Amino acid sequence: MEGVVDPIVREMWTAIGGIDFCVTEFVRITSNLYPEKVFLRYAPELLQKSRTTSGVPVFTQLLGGDPRPMAENAHRVAEMGAYGIDLNFGCPAKTVNRHDGGAALLKNPDRIFRITEAVRKAVPKDKPVTVKVRLGFSDKSLSKDIAQAAECGGGHWLTVHARTKEEAYRPPAHWECIAQMKDVVSIPVIANGDIWTVEDFHRCQRTSQCEDVMIGRGLIAKPDLALQIKEQTEQKSFHDYEDFILQFITKSLAYRNESYAVQRTKQLTKLMARTYEESRGLFECIKRLKTLTEILKEVQAFFLKRQRPPSVESKSMSQRLATQAML
Ligand SMILES: Cc1cc2nc3c(=O)[nH]c(=O)nc-3n(C[C@H](O)[C@H](O)[C@H](O)COP(=O)(O)O)c2cc1C
Repeated sequence: MEGVVDPIVREMWTAIGGIDFCVTEFVRITSNLYPEKVFLRYAPELLQKSRTTSGVPVFTQLLGGDPRPMAENAHRVAEMGAYGIDLNFGCPAKTVNRHDGGAALLKNPDRIFRITEAVRKAVPKDKPVTVKVRLGFSDKSLSKDIAQAAECGGGHWLTVHARTKEEAYRPPAHWECIAQMKDVVSIPVIANGDIWTVEDFHRCQRTSQCEDVMIGRGLIAKPDLALQIKEQTEQKSFHDYEDFILQFITKSLAYRNESYAVQRTKQLTKLMARTYEESRGLFECIKRLKTLTEILKEVQAFFLKRQRPPSVESKSMSQRLATQAML
């Protein structure tokens, strides 16, 4: 996710567990063949066999409307060791669509076919080329053609964000429409859109008829959501994330610079507020702060003020006896 899932997020979130694959932010391809350093900026994991430090494979995502440069750039990043290439035909951003990329291509499934086919031919067979789409541009009338275009072009799997471009991110996601696309192809179809909880996951699986899902915002809001789904773990409390958030700040600073870390910390606490009311409180405390020193101080003070009551194990012997007596 552009501006959200950077290498730090991929590293920290996959370390929690439950995630099988990651995808980079999209690399916008115009007519140029990019030098390696451009791909390394988006996917530093290319230097470690295209995996996060916990070993989860990372796809490099490309976005563009012209088969030739898409194929050439895909070839280059494959040679650099990309685990696989994901093609983005779902981005609704106006600048991207005006320049003939992302969701604009949903209007013409034949172009999705030609780009996928060209990239497939340019990339060694052992590297998957996967396709990400929406249900359509302004309506869903071409959704089955879009799915078939991805399959015929050689797509290894198809991820469907269950909205049209016009629907942007407005709820609800139409998971039932994914089932109709799944009916007309034999490649795996991965359902995406509005999975915020374990219950959403099960409803999405049932409605879309898809075994697998891709989770974007929901996983940022609940970093252990994939683990909860996969291993039926209990949801962590916000307090469990104190070190995680402090690490996120430090790593974001080391990755780029102070203003990046400041902006990312505000973004994270705002997104986590979707799950945790406490995170809204923290976001409110830091949203106007300008320096990382101020933010770090505020984060530490926030968790200190709201320390959890000590657990039974950490209570003193006399307290424990008192508790037992009360029982
Ligand atoms: C800020 C933002 C950036 C995104 N960037 C990308 C991107 O670079 N590539 C992509 O395939 N999808 C991108 N998406 C779309 C998400 O991958 C996903 O399809 C969408 O948010 C719906 O899923 P969710 O409800 O699980 O977030 C982006 C979404 C948001 C909100």
